[in-house]
Amino acid sequence: MHPKTGRPEYLVGSGREQILDSNWTDISAYSFNWKFPTEKNEALLDRIIKASSNPGDLVMDCFAGSGTTLAVAEKLGRRWIGVDCGKLAIYTMQKRLLNIAESKSLRGEAEAISKDEIPRYARNDTAKKKYGKQCKPFTLYNAGLYDYKMIKELPWEQYRDFALKLFQCRDERHEISKIELDGYLGADSVLVFNYQKYKDTMMDRGFIDDLHKYLGDKISRRFFIIAPAASVQFLEDYIQKGKTRYFILRIPYSIIEEIHNRGFTKIKQPVSEMDVNDTVDAVGFDFIQVPTVECKYYLDKPKNPDLLNQKTKECVIEIKKFESKILSRKPLEFKNLETLSMVMLDYDFNGDVFDLDEVFYAEDLKKNGYDVRFAEDKVKRQIMIIYIDIFGNEKREVKTLKDFKK
Ligand SMILES: C[S@@+](CC[C@H](N)C(=O)[O-])C[C@H]1O[C@@H](n2cnc3c(N)ncnc32)[C@H](O)[C@@H]1O
Repeated sequence: MHPKTGRPEYLVGSGREQILDSNWTDISAYSFNWKFPTEKNEALLDRIIKASSNPGDLVMDCFAGSGTTLAVAEKLGRRWIGVDCGKLAIYTMQKRLLNIAESKSLRGEAEAISKDEIPRYARNDTAKKKYGKQCKPFTLYNAGLYDYKMIKELPWEQYRDFALKLFQCRDERHEISKIELDGYLGADSVLVFNYQKYKDTMMDRGFIDDLHKYLGDKISRRFFIIAPAASVQFLEDYIQKGKTRYFILRIPYSIIEEIHNRGFTKIKQPVSEMDVNDTVDAVGFDFIQVPTVECKYYLDKPKNPDLLNQKTKECVIEIKKFESKILSRKPLEFKNLETLSMVMLDYDFNGDVFDLDEVFYAEDLKKNGYDVRFAEDKVKRQIMIIYIDIFGNEKREVKTLKDFKK
């Protein structure tokens, strides 16, 4: 419809256009450049992003995987946000974006498209020119992950702020019967238990009794207290006093079920390449707890058949102990090495950003006695090793060849 005359208008093309079916057979769906299972072809995202956005727009991929959407959005001058709960995905996309200059240009940008070249996307992967530009600055943000050690060391006001935000409470100080309260959850009052001020006081039944004595007839059916798990002496999630339930929101043992009315499940990291795309349940609630890792580092005769006739030796990281510290409501029992998900290596760590070079999955490592092996000559100056557990917690180490020669 013409905006002024209101007359119907017809799109007149050059005659070379092709109407797309809903099944795009002219583009191959997958690519295999980043050793990530189910990596999509950049040509596919090129078409989707061009069809649905303009330069400068914000493109978001909540299942970003190897980061195809982000790389293509970057090349097409869009801003982008990528989300993924998998560590392999996070480090793959970080690497991909840091090295985007070396990757291929999108065909449309790189080369003139000849008239008879339909479908033009079919050969997208063969674009020869490199993209050549660095990625615009970006940041890697850990959403919903909190370092528990840091929380304990936080000044009170910051801890209070964290506690309220963690349980999505409204920060609104108010007083009932001269008792200072911190905010609201829905319409109900919230108290953040000041364990720093009352170091020797425990959250026990007597504490709830006292609270009830003053507040009982002035509050409604629910009252919330946020407290560190270690300072709570009873096991119940709430204590009933008269008509009021006093809910204890433990940090880190949570009663998230009570609030969100859903089960408490943790994100699990894969232990083999096959699992990388398994659907996982995410609740966005976890604490960073660095796993305990003990290894032996040495040089050995190569086991890799390709290296047998060469002079080079193999570096070996023999993982002796791997234990996760898990914070959950129910005690979880895992044997040594059972919670290892994968080991990632950056062979030429620049001292700043981890740039993933190789991944060793726990399932493969188990078959050779948990030895991570790689050719000695891969090590440039220093390597970074990241050990990841199935809950996504990391232990990082920097090593040089000297550490393997000791
Ligand atoms: C099929 S892959 C995406 C591949 C991507 N398009 C590419 O080109 O590489 C799906 C991704 O979604 C992630 N994922 C699955 N469930 C998720 C969730 N609940 N939250 C965030 N990411 C999730 C997986 O870790 C995986 O990396």
